[in-house]
Amino acid sequence: MSGRPRGRPRVVAIDGAAGVGKSTLAAGLAEALGLPYVNTGLMYRAVAAEALRRGVPVDDAEGLAAIADALAFRVAGPAPGRLEVEGWPEDRLRTVDVEAVVSAVAAHPAVRRRLRARQRAIGEERGAVMEGRDIGSVVFADAPVKLFVTAEPEVRAARRAAERGRSAAPVGAALDRRDARDARTNPLAPAPDATVIDTTDRTIAETLHAALEVVARAAPELVP
Ligand code: DC
Repeated sequence: MSGRPRGRPRVVAIDGAAGVGKSTLAAGLAEALGLPYVNTGLMYRAVAAEALRRGVPVDDAEGLAAIADALAFRVAGPAPGRLEVEGWPEDRLRTVDVEAVVSAVAAHPAVRRRLRARQRAIGEERGAVMEGRDIGSVVFADAPVKLFVTAEPEVRAARRAAERGRSAAPVGAALDRRDARDARTNPLAPAPDATVIDTTDRTIAETLHAALEVVARAAPELVP
C-alpha cells in the first residue's frame, strides 16, 4: 500500500470568502489530482434551502440540526466525482433566497457540528479537494495541504456579477453583507500553516499552477 504516514488524510483544504475564485480553483485542482471535489458551502446552502421549504425558522437550532442529519450527501458523477446533495441541481442552492438566510443557518454550533462530522467522514473515506471556510482550520486541521484564497473586493464583485449576469455594484454590496454576517459568527482566518493565494492578478490557469506547486512541495503523494 502507500507509504504515507497513518493518519495523514488525502485532503487538500481550500478556504476563503465568497467570490475569491475558490470554487474554480478547487474544481480544477480536484480534476488535476483525481480527487473528489467537495464544496462544503453546498451543505450549508442545502440546510438553508430545506429549512425555507419546510418553514423551519432560522433560529430553530435543533430543527436545523435535524435537517443537517437527514440530508443525503454523497460523492457522485463521473470519476473522481463531486459532492451532491440529494441529487439536486446546484441552481436550487444558489438562489437569492438561500443566500439571504444561509449565514444565519451556518451560525448555529449545532448545525456546524453535524456538517463538520459529515465533511470529515467524506474526506477520510475517499480523499478530497475540500472547499469552505473552516476546512484547514477545523475540519481537516491535519490536511497536508492548506490553501487560503483571497482577491481584492472589486475583483470579487465583478466576477460574481459576470457569473450571474447582474451588475457589479449590488452584487458587491450583497457579498459585503454576507461577509459581515459570516464573520460575526464564524471568523474567517487562515490556518497558521496555510499558503495564501491571491487570485487578483492571476488567470485561472496561473492560479491552478501556483496551487499545484504548493501541493507538489507539501504532499507529493497526492500528485498522480
Ligand atoms: O461558499 P458558499 O458561499 O457557497 O457558502 C455558503 C455559506 O455557507 C456561507 O455564507 C458561509 C457558510 N459556510 C460555512 O460557514 N462554512 C463552510 N465550511 C462553508 C460555508
